[in-house]
Amino acid sequence: MEQYIIKGGIPLHGDVEIGGAKNAALAILAAANMTNETVYIDNLPDVRDINALLEAMEGIGTRIERVGRHAVKVNGSSVENFIVESESMKKIRASYYLLGALLGKYKKAQVPLPGGCNIGSRPIDQHLKGFKAMGARTKVEHGFVIAEAETLHGAHIFLDMVSVGATINIMMAAVMAEGSTTIENAAKEPHVVDVANFLNSMGASIKGAGTDVIRIKGVRALHRTEYSIIPDQIEAGTFMFAAAVTGGDIVLHNVIPKHLEATSSKLMELGCRIHEYDDAIQVVAPAKLQGTHVKTMPYPGFPTDMQPQMAVSLAIADGTSIVTESIFENRFRYVDELARMGASVKVEGNVAVISGVERFTGARVSAPDLRAGAALVIAGLAAEGITIVDDIYYIERGYENLDQKFQGLGAKIEKVASEKEIQKFRLKVG
Ligand code: EPZ
Repeated sequence: MEQYIIKGGIPLHGDVEIGGAKNAALAILAAANMTNETVYIDNLPDVRDINALLEAMEGIGTRIERVGRHAVKVNGSSVENFIVESESMKKIRASYYLLGALLGKYKKAQVPLPGGCNIGSRPIDQHLKGFKAMGARTKVEHGFVIAEAETLHGAHIFLDMVSVGATINIMMAAVMAEGSTTIENAAKEPHVVDVANFLNSMGASIKGAGTDVIRIKGVRALHRTEYSIIPDQIEAGTFMFAAAVTGGDIVLHNVIPKHLEATSSKLMELGCRIHEYDDAIQVVAPAKLQGTHVKTMPYPGFPTDMQPQMAVSLAIADGTSIVTESIFENRFRYVDELARMGASVKVEGNVAVISGVERFTGARVSAPDLRAGAALVIAGLAAEGITIVDDIYYIERGYENLDQKFQGLGAKIEKVASEKEIQKFRLKVG
């Protein structure tokens, strides 16, 4: 099992390149199956979740051709099987995007029903509500969700809650349905807009993505396209908080500053200075962070995927801070790990009360999930002494070369796989 080992206490300095957005890429890859022509997709992050989805797609017959590390050609004309295997769902929840894509194109799809996961229960009732409104029959049998229809027709769908996944899945099912579909209370996340732009570049007619009403006019078929995925706002935010907790000064490249506004504004409340450029952003940390409060909200609110990184920063800020998690019920599982590094956090329900401490001290901790794992790494970068983060498998689901990118900013961090390598690192860093 691989781990990250970190000698903390070094302020990060320098430049870092941000990759393509994992969560946009997952939906766009699934959507690429919706034409019989070859689609070229660029700025793909090389992370486990993406590779697992590509494997699941090959499992249903999609032809995939890698073009270097960050681009792929996808051809969905050879899809001959509408059943996504359970094994792939175990590896990656987001293979549920194949439900909307296959239903939209072939009018049938069978995908394992995703269960709960480490951040909470993850129902898909809103996805199914949308499919049913468009005329599909849906049922759950033997652990699979089965959706099929003779024809799909446009519908007026009001989502009961703002859901990124349901908005994207319904949008995909609707692009080739007969007539017009309206999604109200739609998610406005940048990746919803990116998927809509991608589908439009294939000939779909989607208007309003990025607002809470999306209108889709069904078209007969989609065609080839070349598309570059937007930068990953969560990867970017993770580096921004890493600069904040280490007292650093870094410039992130390949970002869209507009997508980072909620994160930037919280960093400013913490006392950081933020300089925005066209496609870059600089974070300059203060001598001491100031505590503040935060509540996670759908975009443009503060993202739940950034909550653990924010909490780590508050844990070494002056004063008492309150973090309210309003999207997922189980997203404070890292708190016990952070306590091992000296943090003082009390969780009641979906609220964490954080009393800032002077500093973290290095410890051996485990990543409970993707974002919390990244947050523990940045705590390690700030901590006095050595931190070892176990279960980095989770982190690698969504971050490409996290260790190397931090090394490029001056951090002492390495990926190790044995006690011998841990000892070697200890000797090297002294
Ligand atoms: C997406 O998950 C992201 N995943 C998550 O990122 C992210 O945390 C989340 O959006 C919120 O921004 C992908 O894009 C692959 P939702 P998704 O549907 O689409 C409830 C990461 O770390 N809900 O917006 O599954 C749900 O339980 C991951 O990269 C229903 O009740 O999230 C939650 O409370 C983790 N019924 C809320 O809505 C439904 O049918 C928002 O979930 C759908 C959702």
